[in-house]
Amino acid sequence: METALEGLLREQVVAGETTRPARLLEAMRYAALSGGKRLRPVLLMETAALFGRADEGVCQAGAALEFIHCYSLVHDDLPAMDDDDLRRGRPTTHKAFDEATAILAGDALLTLAFDVITDEMVHPEAATRLKLGRELSRAAGVGGMAGGQMLDIESENRDRTETEIRTLQAMKTGALLRYACRAGAILADANDIEIQRMTRFGEIIGLAFQLADDLLDVEASSDVTGKATGKDADAGKATLVALLGA
Ligand code: IPE
Ligand code: IPE
Ligand code: MG
Ligand code: MG
Ligand code: MG
Repeated sequence: METALEGLLREQVVAGETTRPARLLEAMRYAALSGGKRLRPVLLMETAALFGRADEGVCQAGAALEFIHCYSLVHDDLPAMDDDDLRRGRPTTHKAFDEATAILAGDALLTLAFDVITDEMVHPEAATRLKLGRELSRAAGVGGMAGGQMLDIESENRDRTETEIRTLQAMKTGALLRYACRAGAILADANDIEIQRMTRFGEIIGLAFQLADDLLDVEASSDVTGKATGKDADAGKATLVALLGA
């Protein structure tokens, strides 16, 4: 995965591009090659392997998803959003560069993901590549991660029910993890029932993962998480931990 990500963030332009401005590319590399856990691509690749496919094309699809995840973190950390200075044990992208560069690095990582997911090596059938691209768009967009981030911000210092919090979390975090599991199955030509089962698995992992992240915010130190902790309560975040207690 590291090799795939690195290879897609080279200085050399590809067909149709003019130049890759050094500062923007450097910020994209800083945001994407910074030692994340790579959970989403791992889930994608392991799911594909479960149904018998393990090759560079699967890795490429995993890289596309990781680029969207990395972009979401860059924007999540911006002063206008969670206003964080530390990510993966290093200064956040807008701290290491500046806000405008961080916004553009996020934009460019998001856009690159759709270039990568539609690469011929991802799947021999164009219809399958189209499906993977469209589902990625929906997982990341207004009805998925970005929509969930909106609900997250709108819910600060507001009373929210458990159902509302679960919906918000299924979107902001769950949508990309759900996609990881679905895409892995689709890449390996699993049947509809198998895809459905992996979808459910991804949804449950998504909820568990945000629960763990919210618990770590309360219980862990930033040495462990590589990001500031104890911030969600101060920001009035609507989490199940805030609603129900640890
Ligand atoms: C952090 O995701 C953001 C959430 C959805 C909670 P990760 O914990 O997967 O972040 P990295 O990629 O390992 O840094
Ligand atoms: C982030 O949730 C979800 C994203 C879509 C990035 P958080 O705001 O809790 O993630 P951290 O704690 O900053 O990693
Ligand atoms: Mg956030
Ligand atoms: Mg945050
Ligand atoms: Mg968090």
